[in-house]
Amino acid sequence: MKRLVILISGRGSNMEAIVKACAAEGWPAEVAAVISNRPDAGGLQFAAAHGIPTAVVDHKVYASREAFDAELARVIDGFSPDLVVLAGFMRILTPGFTARYARRMLNIHPSLLPAFTGLHTHERAIEMGCKLAGVTVHFVTAELDHGAIVMQAAVPVLPGDDAKALSARVLTAEHCIYPQSVRWFVEEALVWSGERVHHRDGAAQHVLLG
Ligand code: GAR
Repeated sequence: MKRLVILISGRGSNMEAIVKACAAEGWPAEVAAVISNRPDAGGLQFAAAHGIPTAVVDHKVYASREAFDAELARVIDGFSPDLVVLAGFMRILTPGFTARYARRMLNIHPSLLPAFTGLHTHERAIEMGCKLAGVTVHFVTAELDHGAIVMQAAVPVLPGDDAKALSARVLTAEHCIYPQSVRWFVEEALVWSGERVHHRDGAAQHVLLG
């Protein structure tokens, strides 16, 4: 059984999707813990209600990113994870932290990377007149929102969309590709070639919705 530690900062809908898919589909995995950097993250309640251990490492208490990341790593490692899953975890991580979990930490980012790294992805996609938007699941490296892409999903940007409407459409796609990506990891179906990742059996690593 692979052990997953999921990091959240807020409502945790991606974490919820992963917890549910793991149970419903009988993955060879268990969610060992859900950890938040915010004590008031809504997703902590869902995790606790499902009997999943929770922890808070409040970034506001630490004087530096290094100090926060060191404590976060200590708490994560206490749960002996095979995979660390960043699910709406809104912290910039130090290179030491990303190196520690190299090739065993995933992130979901609400854009079609490499477009729109960072924040406000949906506003920027609309502003640029993009006709497609989407979401990317990728391994985490020291460079923000880079790292080998596991899956991407594309959705249309429709006339009249505001950031709220587009983010809701993208979120549906997130809940599709994040569980799928984590499942592939725990099933050891992901193969590295250099700095790229593909599926062992050539399964499609993209989804087109709408
Ligand atoms: C998701 O849309 C996720 O893609 C995004 O935060 C949201 C978290 O929602 N992540 C990032 O922007 C990371 N840079 P959730 O808490 O309901 O899963």
